[in-house]
Amino acid sequence: MPHCENFAPIILTGDRPTGPLHLGHYVGTLKNRVAMQRSHRQFVLIADAQGLTDNADNPDRIRRNVIEVCLDYLAVGVDPAYTTICLQSSLSALNELTLFYLNYVTVARLERNPTIKDEIRTRGFGRDIPAGFLCYPVAQAADITAFKATVVPVGDDQVPIIEQTNEIVRRINRQAAREVLPEAKAVVPKIGRLPSIDGEGKMSKSQGNAIYLSASRHEIGTAVRRMYTDPGHLRISDPGKVEGNVVFTYLDAFDPDVDAVADLKASYRHGGLGDIALKQRLEQVLETLITPIRERRAELSRRPDDVIDVLRQGTQTSRIVTQQTLEELREALGLFILA
Ligand code: TRP
Repeated sequence: MPHCENFAPIILTGDRPTGPLHLGHYVGTLKNRVAMQRSHRQFVLIADAQGLTDNADNPDRIRRNVIEVCLDYLAVGVDPAYTTICLQSSLSALNELTLFYLNYVTVARLERNPTIKDEIRTRGFGRDIPAGFLCYPVAQAADITAFKATVVPVGDDQVPIIEQTNEIVRRINRQAAREVLPEAKAVVPKIGRLPSIDGEGKMSKSQGNAIYLSASRHEIGTAVRRMYTDPGHLRISDPGKVEGNVVFTYLDAFDPDVDAVADLKASYRHGGLGDIALKQRLEQVLETLITPIRERRAELSRRPDDVIDVLRQGTQTSRIVTQQTLEELREALGLFILA
């Protein structure tokens, strides 16, 4: 059992294992998970069942990436001595909770969820929405409440899901006439979404515009050279734009020397700083960040059984926690309990 005080607030976060994790995940949540794991009781869920909601025809992709994502966690410093890492599809209590919760949500409410609406549009589902996909916020409510998490660090796109979770929590508590489940708070990172390297949209696993935590020196170099800067900045002596310039967005996110970045911005705006020199700095910054992660990841991937053990043990711990909540809920809803 990980070391933690009993009264520490409970965190639940998770990722769909649809691909290895990238720098967007690092600034968005991974860094926070490492920072918070000693002051909170933290669970991290590899959401493979949720991954199936829009990959039902490609379960192989989900299965392969479970270990990749787990390697990413361990490589950045998520420490199983403090954080419980678990596998969603092995926690059957989550499915049972989902089924109960579905009775406290209307189809109209599911269709109104802004995240779902957005995803239906970008994935081009039209009316052919897999029912599992439409209902994934309810399953996510089951994830969050099963662990009695009160703190849920997520990207801003997930905020409507946490709101929907809390509606379900209130509905159930009202039904039970007592507080069976706690409400959860979404914690959204201050820095917005990391843009893709071409500056169009956010960094994404599926669009080939991401820098992975496992990126080689060569891959980092190629990505940085492809980065969008200011198309009007033709000669070194020309004044350049900092806003919307992806290289500066990344320097803001990753360069620890804030004063040096401020100086670079000033000279870029003024004219006299070329894109090549600027990109060399970013390449160096990213190389410094990623090298230890890449090396640790490579070392861990030579011991896959140890990684699987971490996941197995975390899942066993989580099974006890989630099963307990399920039993409390059955009782709170007044079901017939067979002793
Ligand atoms: N929906 C989240 C994502 O796509 C993954 C997820 C599943 C999750 N269950 C969760 C996040 C519970 C936080 C809490 O990234």
